[in-house]
Amino acid sequence: MRVLLTGANGQLGKCFQDRLPKGWLILKTDTKTLDITDRLAVLTVVDSFKPDVIVNAAAYTAVDKAEKDSQIAALVNELGPKNLAEAALAINAKFIHISTDYVFDGKSSTPYKEDDDTSPLGVYGMTKLNGEQSVLSVNDSAIVIRTAWVFSEYGNNFVKTMLKLGIERQSLSIVSDQRGCPTYAGDIANTILQLIQYENVEGGIYHYCGDKEVSWFEFANKIFEQAKKLGYSGDPKINGITTKEYPTLAIRPSYSVLDCQKIKQYNNISLSDWQVALVNICSKLF
Ligand SMILES: NC(=O)c1ccc[n+]([C@@H]2O[C@H](COP(=O)([O-])OP(=O)(O)OC[C@H]3O[C@@H](n4cnc5c(N)ncnc54)[C@H](OP(=O)(O)O)[C@@H]3O)[C@@H](O)[C@H]2O)c1
Repeated sequence: MRVLLTGANGQLGKCFQDRLPKGWLILKTDTKTLDITDRLAVLTVVDSFKPDVIVNAAAYTAVDKAEKDSQIAALVNELGPKNLAEAALAINAKFIHISTDYVFDGKSSTPYKEDDDTSPLGVYGMTKLNGEQSVLSVNDSAIVIRTAWVFSEYGNNFVKTMLKLGIERQSLSIVSDQRGCPTYAGDIANTILQLIQYENVEGGIYHYCGDKEVSWFEFANKIFEQAKKLGYSGDPKINGITTKEYPTLAIRPSYSVLDCQKIKQYNNISLSDWQVALVNICSKLF
């Protein structure tokens, strides 16, 4: 199996490489070696490597910064995936692309299904939604996985931020009125690997996230509870606050739990057991 991976230095990109089955050949690319917004570069790399599958782990993921940087966010999240989808189609390679729970506005009170109405609240969510649509409009066999609240041992994420702040500060104020499902990037990587190996996965959108919903406040409490069991020295007091008390440039959905029944039809795919992943990550760190 020949895999072209974009965004190889991101959380998902790194977790994917860690799990690549023996004997598979991977061309891992990053912003410097393959800028996905450069159509000619994408076509050239794809034509010369001739992958069986392209996994797009590249994205503009800075949710607040995107509000001021909308042109770059659009290039990376809309044009880049479209370039890859076209290049995959041209050589009949599978294409797997990743999107986000932030395509929804959070007004639902039940988990979002793949065909529920989208209505992003910010630039990041809007560019990711446009990306999904442009991918599927040029390549209807593409697989688009919407995921949520991604964390891992790599890069910047909520878990690592909490553990850092917990050492530096005696108390932390964490938003308690936004709910979603934390998802371990390693579990997304495993799911992608499973989907690659299934012969006939129908193109379209699939939801995949953690198996238990929480608020950011509850997630923070879980992180510190677990870390302390493993010898973490921080002991901050965690205060729950409202979104109004913690204004950010981008508005986030208050509820973005994803219904993952559709992807579960494929045997061997189980939802991200993020609490187990948290234990594993903390045991590596302490
Ligand atoms: N993180 C989350 O909480 C979250 C939630 C829901 C969905 N998702 C989605 O999940 C996917 C993986 O996210 P992640 O957390 O692994 O992202 P990440 O850690 O931010 O990694 C994204 C990678 O994309 C690369 N990149 C940016 N612009 C590029 C370009 N023009 N050409 C090639 N590479 C480029 C970045 O490289 P540089 O570092 O060099 O810029 C970075 O290594 C993304 O599609 C994201 O939208 C993430």
